[in-house]
Amino acid sequence: MIETIKTLTEISGPSGRETKVRNTLIEMIKDHVDGYEVDKVGNLIAWKGDGGNPVVLVAHMDEIGIVVTNEIKEGFYRIEPVGGVSPYTALNRRYVLQDGTVGVVGVERETAQDVKKNLTNLSFDTLYLDTFGKKVDVGTFGVFDSHFYQNGDFLVSKAMDDRIGCAILVEIVRGLKNPKRRFYIAFSIQEEVGLVGSSVLAYPLDAQEAIAIDVTDSADSPKSFKRHPMVIGKGPAIKIKDRYSISDKRIVDKLVKVAKDRGIPYQLEVLTFGGTDAAALMRTREGIPSATVSVPTRYIHTPNEVVGKSDVENTIKLLIEYIQAV
Ligand code: CO
Ligand code: ZN
Repeated sequence: MIETIKTLTEISGPSGRETKVRNTLIEMIKDHVDGYEVDKVGNLIAWKGDGGNPVVLVAHMDEIGIVVTNEIKEGFYRIEPVGGVSPYTALNRRYVLQDGTVGVVGVERETAQDVKKNLTNLSFDTLYLDTFGKKVDVGTFGVFDSHFYQNGDFLVSKAMDDRIGCAILVEIVRGLKNPKRRFYIAFSIQEEVGLVGSSVLAYPLDAQEAIAIDVTDSADSPKSFKRHPMVIGKGPAIKIKDRYSISDKRIVDKLVKVAKDRGIPYQLEVLTFGGTDAAALMRTREGIPSATVSVPTRYIHTPNEVVGKSDVENTIKLLIEYIQAV
């Protein structure tokens, strides 16, 4: 499992540029599923089993990143965020572009007054990517240049959002040999720019239920967000609601029952911001009842997103038991 997480999080796959992630996932799952296909826009969908009441589990392949907008002068480029990247997070970071170029983000600082002004109200208008003289094309995408690190139960990497969800789906399909119902695992594109892939991926499926697997804010560091109850190490978070969706109550109740019956630790999540693919799945065709199971995560949308190994293992357990509960 750790190897799967390390491999998946270290791939570069910003929104709209998910090809490498998709190809790696196909290699990881192809011998463990009954079939798979890539739809017209690039979502990867695989299936297994043939019992009734099919469920689709969805994780997004893409990660936040940057894109080069224009050249300022040779070797210096203006960039734009892809998905939710704060300029404060981007500043002074090392990025690797999809053509292999490595660059560092700096800020304009011509006068002391500029520095003060630019830093108190930081914007991508005054940030630049320094590529050390290397020429890059407008429209080149990039991601944080950041590597996987483990310290006991803590797993640290860029793109835990949402390769951890992808890794969970890979482990489910490898671990569940005789599913009691058909289930789909789907890997969506462009979640970070507005739930794009998940808006269409379930359309051709006969799924009766959908569950998105994604990260959520954990509030277990000093003075973290008081109103968020999620903590790393206390189990998967069964989402009640976030800004974009309210989980289907029947699925939530079933998840809680399965967790209690099987002695799997869990937490209940009410997130005051954010959204997941569940919001789009709920709106598919005549509607698919949907919910989200989340992995509590520190420092979301930074190069060092932190999750708990035991939470990941318990999420896999919970979802396998959920599928089997039909
Ligand atoms: Co995200
Ligand atoms: Zn996500």
